[in-house]
Amino acid sequence: MGGLTPGQAKLNVVPFVSVDHMMKLILSIGIGRVLTELVEYIEVDFRRWQMFEKSARLASHSSKGVIELMPTSDGDIYGFKYVNGHPLNTISGRQTVTAFGVLAEVGTGYPVLISEMTILTALRTAATSALAAKYLAAPGARAMAIIGNGAQAEFQALAFKAVLGVDRLRLYDIDRSASEKCMRNLAGFGFDMAICPTPEAAMEGVQIVTTVTADKRYATILTDNMVSEGLHINAVGGDSPGKTELHRDILERSTIFTEFTPQTRIEGEIQQLPADYPVTELWEVIAGKAKGRQSEREITLFDSVGFAIEDFSALRWVWRNVLSTPFYQELDLLADPDDPRDLFGMLLRAQAAAASPVP
Ligand SMILES: NC(=O)c1ccc[n+]([C@@H]2O[C@H](COP(=O)([O-])OP(=O)(O)OC[C@H]3O[C@@H](n4cnc5c(N)ncnc54)[C@H](O)[C@@H]3O)[C@@H](O)[C@H]2O)c1
Repeated sequence: MGGLTPGQAKLNVVPFVSVDHMMKLILSIGIGRVLTELVEYIEVDFRRWQMFEKSARLASHSSKGVIELMPTSDGDIYGFKYVNGHPLNTISGRQTVTAFGVLAEVGTGYPVLISEMTILTALRTAATSALAAKYLAAPGARAMAIIGNGAQAEFQALAFKAVLGVDRLRLYDIDRSASEKCMRNLAGFGFDMAICPTPEAAMEGVQIVTTVTADKRYATILTDNMVSEGLHINAVGGDSPGKTELHRDILERSTIFTEFTPQTRIEGEIQQLPADYPVTELWEVIAGKAKGRQSEREITLFDSVGFAIEDFSALRWVWRNVLSTPFYQELDLLADPDDPRDLFGMLLRAQAAAASPVP
């Protein structure tokens, strides 16, 4: 993965993917194909999990939300994401989650890509969810409840369709207009959809549930009586200390799968359980080191919080795909004096050039 990329032919330049360019890239490839390829990229990186530097993300909490830095490296390429989570943001017209990220060459420390990651986070979160369900959901699962129909919801639906063929959706949100927005956006993608009056109604006849609500507290989106045997639970919205979605009884009935367990113990549903409660990391299942679903009646739970390697994989996908398109800008980000040690001289020459402009 090393070496200069086309966008890097000038040492001062780093390719930058704006929101507008990200949308054009995704639309030019097609969202179904993008999600399928992201699943493949994440799967490849999860298989080589042990090569990565891993740490729980660095979180700065406030009463309104959280700002997080998520770094990792495979020894060749380093990546990090800046991301926030502010459930009240939508009141002021802002996103709950917004993000950007960087890839850099380990050998030189030079960034090779800067990208928007708000849309990319929604894609990679959905891709990771669908990847987990590929190994954990009951074979042939086609019907999914989505509880919480905000920014992430449509991406989740489309990833489950692309990877598992899920084509029946039961939607629930405390704000019906969010469900209506979701249904409107997904019309034309081949789903049979229903907006449900209660979360209990949404759970009727489904084999998968995705909980993707935003609330900065211990919420109880699902209670034990709503969870039937054989269900796969994709719990996405509980991703911060004090912010969970599932009643503890559900956790005790489920086989629990995590991303990077030390981070999930702090942020995931399992923060409700003792610190030594047994869980399996998803990469172990993907790499054939642990079992996924073992019986029809088993309840499987993917306790998603979002881990740095998924962002690394997503950025790697963008880097691989964007440089042969017009969908990036050359950002003059890195100082590049003629003599690398003459940084100050470069400043003086700029001053001289400004004082005597070319006629
Ligand atoms: N695990 C991950 O990797 C990951 C990645 C991205 C976002 N998230 C989390 O997913 C959640 C959703 O993100 P978003 O960007 O879609 O947020 P959003 O604010 O756009 O949407 C959240 C929706 O949940 C609904 N909601 C809130 N409480 C509810 C309840 N009790 N029952 C039903 N619906 C309820 C809201 O009305 C809203 O429509 C957030 O908590 C976010 O932090 C997790």
